[in-house]
This record gives sequence, C-alpha cells and structure tokens, in this order.
Amino acid sequence: MKYKLRILFCNILSFDGEVVIITGGSRGIGFETAKAFSENGANVIITSKNSKQLKNAAAKLSKTIAITADIRKEQEVQNVIKKTIEKFGKLDILINNAGIFPRIKKLHKISESEWNDVLDVNLNGAFRFTKFAIPYLQKTSGSIINVSSDAGLKAYEDFNADAYSASKAALVVLTKCWSLEYAKDKIRVNCICPGVVETDMTKPFLKTKKDRDFMNNDHPLGRFGQPEEIAKSILFLASKDSSWTTGAILAIDGGQSTK
Ligand SMILES: NC(=O)c1ccc[n+]([C@@H]2O[C@H](COP(=O)([O-])OP(=O)(O)OC[C@H]3O[C@@H](n4cnc5c(N)ncnc54)[C@H](OP(=O)(O)O)[C@@H]3O)[C@@H](O)[C@H]2O)c1
Repeated sequence: MKYKLRILFCNILSFDGEVVIITGGSRGIGFETAKAFSENGANVIITSKNSKQLKNAAAKLSKTIAITADIRKEQEVQNVIKKTIEKFGKLDILINNAGIFPRIKKLHKISESEWNDVLDVNLNGAFRFTKFAIPYLQKTSGSIINVSSDAGLKAYEDFNADAYSASKAALVVLTKCWSLEYAKDKIRVNCICPGVVETDMTKPFLKTKKDRDFMNNDHPLGRFGQPEEIAKSILFLASKDSSWTTGAILAIDGGQSTK
C-alpha cells in the first residue's frame, strides 16, 4: 500500500521528457530547483556565468547539462536557447531565477552604475531569457516561473536595497503582463516571492547567532527558509497540478510579507 502511494505521488509531479531551463542554476535556489526537476524526470539546462562552478553543479545532478552565459549579454542568452533547441528540439519550462543583491545603501548614496547593474541582471536578464524563449514556449504551451522576492511586494524597515526592490517589483507586474499577453498561446506565467532563504546571497546577513536569531524571529513561522522549500513551490507551479494557474504571485516566506 505504502509503495503504491509513493508511485502515485511521484506521478503527480512527473516532468518526464520535459525540457527546463533554470537561470542561476549553479547554486542556491536555482541549484535545488534543478535537483528537484531532474529527480522528477525532466531534462534540465542550468545556466550562470561562472563556468567552473556551473559545470561542477551539473556534474552532481542527473539529466542536467550546463551552458555558461552571462545574463547581461543578449548573444549569450540567445545561445542558451539555441543550444537547448539543438539538443532537445523543444522547451517546456523557463525558470527566471538568476539574481544579485546589492550593497545595503540608502537611495541617495547609490551610484548610477550600481543601480543599473542590479536592474540589468535581475530585471533585464529575465526580459532577455523570456524574449528568446517565448517562440519555443508558444509551440509547447509551456510555462514560465519568475523568481521575485518579498522585497518586490512591500517595503521593509532598514532594508535599503532599492534597486533590488524595484527589480523584484517589476517581475511581479511583468508576471501579470506576460500571463495576459500569452494566455492565448496557453503559456502559463507565475511568480514566487521568497522571504529570507539560506544561500550564498544571504550569507552576510546570517553570520552570527544574533543575525540568525533576528532573521528567524523576523518570519512569523519562526524561521528563515531553505532553498528546497522554494524549489518545491516552483515545481508545483510548473506542474500539471497547477494547470489553471497563471498570473499568480505566490509568497513563500514563513508569513513575512503578511506583517
Ligand atoms: N536567498 C534569498 O533569501 C532570496 C529571497 C528572495 C528572492 N531571492 C531570489 O532568488 C534567486 C536566487 O537567489 P539565491 O539566493 O539562490 O542566490 P545565489 O545563491 O547568490 O545564486 C545566484 C545565482 O544567479 C547567478 N547569476 C548572478 N549574476 C549572473 C549573471 N550576470 N549572469 C548569469 N547568472 C548570474 C549566479 O551564478 P554566477 O555566480 O555564476 O553568475 C547564481 O547561480 C534570485 O533571483 C534572488 O533575488 C532570494
């Protein structure tokens, strides 16, 4: 009986034969998402700009290949899509996950280049990948998941990362725009907004016991999150179990954005 139930559960999240691109797949949330997709039968393409780290990440996973690309460069992005189609002949799912977090500064101290760097990766990068992926997603009635943030939903006291907040809020509204623009093609576009998740990005804020206690208490459920918890929600939104869900903005944040 137990065995049968396990098979049933695996079938629900089966991505057998589906082709998934995950930007920023070398570590953190992107890597855990790649792991979860590969364990559920998908052919996974992970991409990021540090080639060595990316190849090492792909080597740890089954059914996963690495294609290096700096998301700030249009031609490199286009090359990821081109190589994916050459190898697999189609694309089913795009996860716009790559992102950077700036140094904490109040708005009047941010230089124009610091501002532009964050927007170029977090926002323009998602634009570039989506733009080149759409013609192939139209053929498969595929799905896009944008990885935004709680910071894209509201302002937080002493957060002081305005370029980051702006880039993530833009992804929230673009999720809704794209879901409408491509609904006729049956492309579903959804968005997740994580709270604080333990990855390289948040390492500087989780160094000491005091930092960790503070971050735990900052989330109503009493703890910050782990990348696997975000991966599971991404898989749900990409799966057939959410076949009637598009334009959705899902906070996965231990309740942080409800405060
Ligand atoms: N961790 C959190 O608490 C949290 C909360 C809310 C939202 N998020 C969002 O979740 C996503 C993943 O975050 P994470 O915490 O997993 O971050 P992470 O561990 O720092 O990983 C970031 C990923 O993005 C890639 N990347 C950065 N710049 C790139 C560029 N120019 N071109 C291509 N790839 C690039 C990195 O690869 P390379 O180093 O090779 O470039 C890496 O694979 C981000 O969009 C982040 O904003 C995270």
